Amino acid sequence: MAKLNVVGIGPGSLDYVTPAARKAVRSAAVVIGAERSLRLFRKDIKGEAVALTAQNVTALLNYAAESAEKGKTVALLSTGDPGFSGLLRPILEIVKGRDVDLTVIPAVSSIQACAARLRMCWDEMSLFSFHKGATAEKKAQLAKAVKEGKDIMLLPDPKVFSLREIAHFLVEAGLAKETPVFVCERLTLSDERVLESTLAQVFNLDCDTLSVLFIKLNQRQKR
Ligand SMILES: C[S@@+](CC[C@H](N)C(=O)[O-])C[C@H]1O[C@@H](n2cnc3c(N)ncnc32)[C@H](O)[C@@H]1O
Repeated sequence: MAKLNVVGIGPGSLDYVTPAARKAVRSAAVVIGAERSLRLFRKDIKGEAVALTAQNVTALLNYAAESAEKGKTVALLSTGDPGFSGLLRPILEIVKGRDVDLTVIPAVSSIQACAARLRMCWDEMSLFSFHKGATAEKKAQLAKAVKEGKDIMLLPDPKVFSLREIAHFLVEAGLAKETPVFVCERLTLSDERVLESTLAQVFNLDCDTLSVLFIKLNQRQKR
């Protein structure tokens, strides 16, 4: 049985691509990933490279599973770590009950890169991603985290729950407009930007699509 490797590629810089990820890509007959992911591995790709877009995700995840079933080794590239709002959840759904040997190759998530950049421990934070939708349940969990006073780190989605919408939501959930926040854009890339701001300032902020929002609520953890 050939392998389907779900490969974390890290936050975007070549410096954070692991040797294990490179090895998985080099040995793959089929490599599937977004253009920016494929570009990172252009020197390693030996097999067929297939570009993933917002429109063809389901079709290409099925293609990944079918290729593995036919005995081809597949590398499915997932930005950051595959297990945090990455491609692991949808591919697990697709391979369920199929004869596919799936392995996950971990990597540095944008969440970890953000925590490192801000010199913050993240083991007691509340972590959120709104990439798979901003359901009422998820928003209620965010409001609960606010009440608990934990530091919060989250991935906004400009189409689903943008940074501005999140800032308004947090103020409605009871946070002061002066609450300190950090917006970390394009982490590890040459044009990385870290903005120290407040919730009120985020109301008018245009941020990059690659952004992590950190909300400082826990007074015990100093920066
Ligand atoms: C679909 S989610 C994938 C998350 C990914 N699995 C991870 O572990 O980082 C995509 C979101 O991750 C965040 N992201 C990914 N790379 C980033 C980077 N280099 N800098 C800041 N945020 C990043 C952004 O919020 C982006 O919209």
